Amino acid sequence: MSDASIDPRIQELRERKATAHLGGGEDKIARQHARGRMTARERLQLLLDKGTFREIDVFVTHNVTEFGLAEQKILGDGVVTGYGTINGRLVYVYSQDFTVFGGSVSRAHARKICKVMEMAMKNGAPVIGLNDSGGARIQEGVHSLAGYAEIFYRNVIASGVVPQISVIMGPCAGGAVYSPAITDFVIMVKETSHMFVTGPDVIKAVTHEDVTFEELGGASVHASKSGVAHFAAENEEDALFLVQHLVDYLPGNNMQDPPLQPSNDDPLREAPELDSIIPDNPNKPYDMKEVIRHIVDEGQFLEVHEHWAQNIIVGFARLGGRSVGIVAQQPTVLAGVLDVEASQKGARFVRFCDAFNVPLVVFEDVPGFMPGITQEHGGIIRQGAKLLYAFCEATVPKLTVIVRKAYGGAYCVMNPRHIGADLVFAWPSAEIAVMGPEGAVNVIFRREIADADDPAARKAELVEDYRQRFANPYVAAAAGFIDNVIEPRETRPHLINALEMLQNKRDSLPPKKHGNIPL
Ligand code: HXC
Repeated sequence: MSDASIDPRIQELRERKATAHLGGGEDKIARQHARGRMTARERLQLLLDKGTFREIDVFVTHNVTEFGLAEQKILGDGVVTGYGTINGRLVYVYSQDFTVFGGSVSRAHARKICKVMEMAMKNGAPVIGLNDSGGARIQEGVHSLAGYAEIFYRNVIASGVVPQISVIMGPCAGGAVYSPAITDFVIMVKETSHMFVTGPDVIKAVTHEDVTFEELGGASVHASKSGVAHFAAENEEDALFLVQHLVDYLPGNNMQDPPLQPSNDDPLREAPELDSIIPDNPNKPYDMKEVIRHIVDEGQFLEVHEHWAQNIIVGFARLGGRSVGIVAQQPTVLAGVLDVEASQKGARFVRFCDAFNVPLVVFEDVPGFMPGITQEHGGIIRQGAKLLYAFCEATVPKLTVIVRKAYGGAYCVMNPRHIGADLVFAWPSAEIAVMGPEGAVNVIFRREIADADDPAARKAELVEDYRQRFANPYVAAAAGFIDNVIEPRETRPHLINALEMLQNKRDSLPPKKHGNIPL
């Protein structure tokens, strides 16, 4: 739209910007929509507070002259970058534009991404990447690979400095997957996003396996089987809403505390339902998510990795307006046992919370580590050590509520006082011992049971006796390992009070380059 009264140079600027906003052009935008996907800019409009997006590097183009690319320079070069706010808080963003060379990554494209990452680190705000790309810009060869490597490097340097969130909204294949993989959270969109290192055709050629894109690297598979995706969103809107929700729980950087969000939920509120939630039979399950919802502000719990390693629960909630990271067993899945995947899931979450000053709250009901050849050969020793290591090194406020079982090595792992918990509460239903009563009497009274006139009756007696003596919280409380035995209904007020008490906690590790977590 030209206007004779406007300075022609301003007119030219407007025209250039309008061209840039069209990306690869109207046909390609129509194709993108027909695939059920939004454009890069439409996504940013939805993600950020209205009118807050400020774009940078609109005029960047690639420098390649081969393959006829000299004539194909599209402003922005396939990625829209800049900053804006989410619920009033600063975030840096990049959004790959599939309508331009399939969102493929040129050196110039990569440098734009690196620039926002550097700005984010300097100014202390999260980086959110909306990924939709055919991968390395094939025509650029090694220059594209250089660009990728520069992004990966910054992902690592920014790790633990600012939160990094990746949303996968289209293809993300080959080495390109390693940028999201390094970031803190990966959100995939069901049906329209795929992640894999090698695709179905290569797999067919090499291993002769038949697999579809969705079966190999769709959102559901990565959210339930591989653990690559922390969230599987129903659609793009849902994915962007999840980002907004997640950012609300997090600080802008590692030097800040997460934002306080005052709540109408009374900090002194008791939850009488909890008094009867633990079944009389210690082997009967109950839903730990119900326990969590009864305790946290307004019952709001943002579960992370909801569909992967479901025997452990991790996610964000608030207590008295403060963000907390919750780690809990789920007795309805494998009795809440710790296995290879649960240990990995828990460890990564604990380390994220510790890096970003989010206090940890543990709800424990753990019968132990999962026995079995698969687990041992899958490295349960190495994997379980990750969770132990993560809790030990965490210096954020750390609280534990032993709800029911706390047996064996798993007791030592799940944030007891001995590895730095600031306060440990137990419900009267807590059972804390080296192993469960059945297992214990089988070991220590094997001969006595075998010699008894009625071995089954003698064993039952011994189990009951052991339960009375050890399967309760009072032995541990007498030793000062548990700070207080509380009524389940009072858990919320106790935790909120503890978090207030710990708000100025100071703790640090000895100076070192970095520890050596058993990866
Ligand atoms: C340059 C690319 C491109 C790429 C797609 N395009 N990928 N251009 N480099 N890597 C272009 C296409 O030529 C096409 O241009 C436009 O983007 C849209 O692509 P389509 O194929 O029409 O779209 P669609 O059918 O949806 O298929 C999307 C796709 C497919 C699955 C991503 O394009 C594809 O397989 N691309 C190649 C993927 C790939 O092998 N990338 C390199 C991986 S190795 P026109 O002009 O026709 O619209 C890698 C290494 C990273 O990425 C290493 C990091 C260490």
